[in-house]
Formats: sequence, structure tokens, C-alpha cells
Amino acid sequence: MTNPKRVFSGVQPSGNLTIGNYIGAIRQWVERQQEFDACYCVVDAHAITVPYEPQTLQTKTREVAALYLAAGLSTDYATVFVQSHVPQHTELAWYLTCITSLGWLNRMTQFKDKSARLETEMIGAGLLNYPVLMAADILLYQTELVPVGDDQRQHIELARDIAQRFNATFGETFTIPAAMIPLEGARVMGLDTPTTKMSKSTTDSQYHAVYLLDEPDTVLKKFKRAVTDSLADIRFSADPERAGVNNLLTIFQALTHQNAEGVEAHFAGKGYGHLKTEVAEVVIETLRPIQQHYAELMAEGGYIDRVLAEGAAKAQVIATQTVADVKGRMGFLLPAL
Ligand code: AMP
Ligand code: TRP
Repeated sequence: MTNPKRVFSGVQPSGNLTIGNYIGAIRQWVERQQEFDACYCVVDAHAITVPYEPQTLQTKTREVAALYLAAGLSTDYATVFVQSHVPQHTELAWYLTCITSLGWLNRMTQFKDKSARLETEMIGAGLLNYPVLMAADILLYQTELVPVGDDQRQHIELARDIAQRFNATFGETFTIPAAMIPLEGARVMGLDTPTTKMSKSTTDSQYHAVYLLDEPDTVLKKFKRAVTDSLADIRFSADPERAGVNNLLTIFQALTHQNAEGVEAHFAGKGYGHLKTEVAEVVIETLRPIQQHYAELMAEGGYIDRVLAEGAAKAQVIATQTVADVKGRMGFLLPAL
């Protein structure tokens, strides 16, 4: 048997996880975990690149890890850990920063969007360097595949560019990673603004995102308020005017694993009210076992922290090897043993 492919991905412990995070990323991790040698990380060092509350970072970090497990990740297959528990992430990020062009970073659309939206004069250099840290996360484990939503495509291209530049400069060191983006639901849109991505940090409207820990009533209420159009025609469409209906159908399709024709046939002749209720029901039934499992995991005092400690110890073994290799190739004097 060939060795399973190395996979790495992560979610930031900022805000509450949404069904966008689940459909775009976490669901893939769970469904294919047995095929891969996977590391799933809670990327807390990324969460401090925008203003945040130090009092809630720990709680959020534990919560995201618990949601990974509640969604079905098993430590039998996957290594689950916290980024800041393995200091080689930030160490490698510095080495990679020194071979990353400013031009590459200035082109990142997520940096442009986030820095434009920040309501503060102080934009930290960490926000610009964010994708280098992400490249370090990926390259540290000689990752082949990175399962993420569509919005991360450009960051993974950058990780490839950085790896190629490093290999060309210092000799073959890093595996060149590739993005693994789901065919359906790679970009779940906001329910209130279906032309913008559903995001866990958008707090303007309580009807924007559905969170993984939302109560069934709340989920239903949010879907009932979802923006649609006046055409009363339930079909997939790339027309921005029809983005709301398209988004509801996409969520339904991703969670019921049907093809587009099957979904359209299912809703043929039905009204938007019906569509919204039915999508809400599918989401509620998807979340129910996750929420139940989450409550059980959190009730077991210290369990999540133990899983994370074991995960970090496993990750550290690979991380240490890679960083030693990188330092040797870059010409650093290594400490005597
Ligand atoms: P973040 O919330 O930025 O930490 O994203 C964590 C993961 O969820 C990444 O793989 C994202 O691509 C994915 N993701 C976040 N929001 C969405 C969305 N609205 N639709 C699909 N995937 C998403
Ligand atoms: N930037 C990713 C996001 O916001 C999170 C992330 C950080 C990540 N490091 C990663 C995803 C490494 C995949 C691999 O969605």
C-alpha cells in the first residue's frame, strides 16, 4: 500500500464557526479522514492578526477544537492541535518571510479586503504576513493536500510559490502543496447579503450567518429571513440577482449529496417559503448530532485539552525535523547536541 497523502488545514478561533466553515472545509476533512494522514489545526496565531479580545481567545480555541471532534474528526486518523502549541509554525514563518516578495503579499485579495474593512488606523504587519504564516503551517508538515473553501485558493498558490522559491534557492526541501476545494459549497454566501461570503466575523446583522451552535429555532428564523428575489423560480443560477436562491440550493445540495438536477426536480413547482423551510430543516438535522456530541465533549472536564496536548506532541515530531532541515539548508550554525 502506498503511504497516505499528508493533509493539513485549519480554522481561526475568531468568532463562531459557521455552516460555511463546515460545508467548505470541515465536512471534507471528516468525510475523507480515513484516506489521509491529516493534521487539523486551530490556527490561533492567525486570529491575532486583527483586533481581538485576549479574554476570549482561549475559550474560542477550545471551542473550535471541540467542534472539529464533534463534527466527526477522530484522533484515530487525524492529529488535532493548536498552532501556538507548536512554536515551529512561527519560527518557520520568519524564515519564509525572508524569501517572500512584498509584491506577492500586496497582491493578496484577502489582505486588501480585510485592511480596507478594519475600523482602525493601526493595521498590523501581521495582517500582511498572514499568508506566510499559513504557508509555514502547510510546508512544516510536507503537506500534499490542503482542504479549504474557495476563498483560500490564492493563499495556497502563494504557499506553492514560497515553497518553489525556497527549493530553488536552498535545494529540494518542501513538498509542493495543492488546494483541495469541494465541488459543492466551496463558497457559502451570507443569507442577508448573498453576494458576499458568509463570514464568522461579520456582526452587522444577526441574519448573516448560521452558526454551528445555533438552536434549531434560530436556524429556522435565519433561513426564513434569507434574501431571495421576486422570480419565484427555484433553479441554480450564476446571475447575481438570483444569488440568494442559488445559495439556498447550494447549501441543500452540499448537505444532501444530490446532483443539481435532482435538487431542482425536488423543488419543482414549490415556493420560496417551502425552499427556505426545507433547507433550514436539512441544516438543523445536520447540526443536531454535532451539537449533541459537542455538549458531551465539553462536559468531560479536561478531555479536549488532553486531545490537544497529544496532538501537539505528535505534530512537534514532524515540525522539529522540518525546521532542523530548513535551518541547515539556510546555513545557520546549529547548536551542539
Ligand atoms: P476561516 O473562517 O477564515 O478561518 O476559514 C476556515 C475555513 O473555512 C477555510 O478553509 C475557508 O475557506 C472555509 N470557509 C470559511 N467561510 C466559508 C464560506 N462562506 N464558504 C465556504 N467555505 C468557507
Ligand atoms: N487562512 C485560513 C482561513 O482563514 C486558515 C488557515 C491558516 C489555514 N493556516 C492554514 C487553512 C493552513 C489551511 C492550511 O481560512
